[in-house]
Amino acid sequence: MKLKMLLFVFASSGYLSLSASNISQPVWVKKSVETATFQLKQMSSKLYNKTGKEVFPRSVKDGQIKLVDGEDWTSGFFPGSLWYAYELTGDKKMLENARYYTNKLESIQYFTGNHDIGFIMYCSYGNARRLSPQKSDSSILVNSAISLTKRFFPKVGQIRSWDNERWAFPVIIDNMMNLELLFAMSKTTGNPLFRDIAIKHADKTMENHFRKDMSSYHVVSYNPETGLVETKETHQGYSNESAWSRGQAWGLYGYTVCYRETGDKKYLKQAKAIASYIMNCPVMPKDKVPYWDYNAPKIPNEPRDASAGAVTASALLELYTITGEKQYFSFAETTLKSLSSKKYLAKVGCNHNFILMHSVGSIPGKFEVDTPLNYADYYYLEGLMRYVNIWNKLNKKNNL
Ligand code: GLY
Repeated sequence: MKLKMLLFVFASSGYLSLSASNISQPVWVKKSVETATFQLKQMSSKLYNKTGKEVFPRSVKDGQIKLVDGEDWTSGFFPGSLWYAYELTGDKKMLENARYYTNKLESIQYFTGNHDIGFIMYCSYGNARRLSPQKSDSSILVNSAISLTKRFFPKVGQIRSWDNERWAFPVIIDNMMNLELLFAMSKTTGNPLFRDIAIKHADKTMENHFRKDMSSYHVVSYNPETGLVETKETHQGYSNESAWSRGQAWGLYGYTVCYRETGDKKYLKQAKAIASYIMNCPVMPKDKVPYWDYNAPKIPNEPRDASAGAVTASALLELYTITGEKQYFSFAETTLKSLSSKKYLAKVGCNHNFILMHSVGSIPGKFEVDTPLNYADYYYLEGLMRYVNIWNKLNKKNNL
């Protein structure tokens, strides 16, 4: 029954074949991918900072493109977006650019200044190794995983997120996103250490980051000597007890990966409970692109966060693939279609060549409010890729 309904939706939406990649895509996906590809190509030609150094696009600040170097937590998303654009189109220029910008991150494999190496290296080199591997990709990823494990404290059972005087040992929910690198490197090396650390981190986060309603805090800080929790806060959200939208998305994505990698049902239960919190949130708009915080006080007069929508959609599609439960697919499809509408998708040549408009970096931090963000673009393209893969599998199975 589930399958029949999906096939009906697909059959009535029409599709085209892209000759370069040979991947069939619904028309609305194809159009969005065309826009994305144009934007990424244009973007690739203007990535020099004031000193002439070639860098990475992150966002827009004071009407100018905001560029960052490799140590910024977002540096891997631009190469990652190029990889997904290549996968979606087969466009050789995308492949060339994806490899070029990925290789610019090589030195980050030894970076231990915070936990973000998982985001940086797995979105870039992880996709590189998957789509067009070069000999050194695996060793760079293994070194990146080693760097990440240096921040793991057995006494706390967590990977420390930031070195920041404000907290003794802060762990943020975003850190769940770095575990995929560890799981993958255990498979690559056969060394269970990476996976053990990922599991310990996921378990402790499950214990301390979540509230009864399954929303999560952003930052939990520990005493590194005793391993006990000292504070629970929501640094990037509206208040300490509020549900910051992107944080909920990071948790959903992270526990879905944990289930995929371990088969442990407690992670599936966790992912489904987070999904249920998000999907049933009374303030979730009809278009399924959330406000920046589910408890923001002036909803509906609060900014939306396209990045939270894109991360949630991509995670829900993976949860659909794992469970076959149509509700996850339908929700993600609505979000992706909304993001593909002119309300969120940039006009070609506009939006400083980012793909999506209307994301939020940090309202309490007063930066990147209602701007494009490179990670909104990355998870949007990943979501489209996942959508297309599901769509093709169902078509093939039924000879459509
Ligand atoms: N990882 C930082 C953020 O989500 O804004």
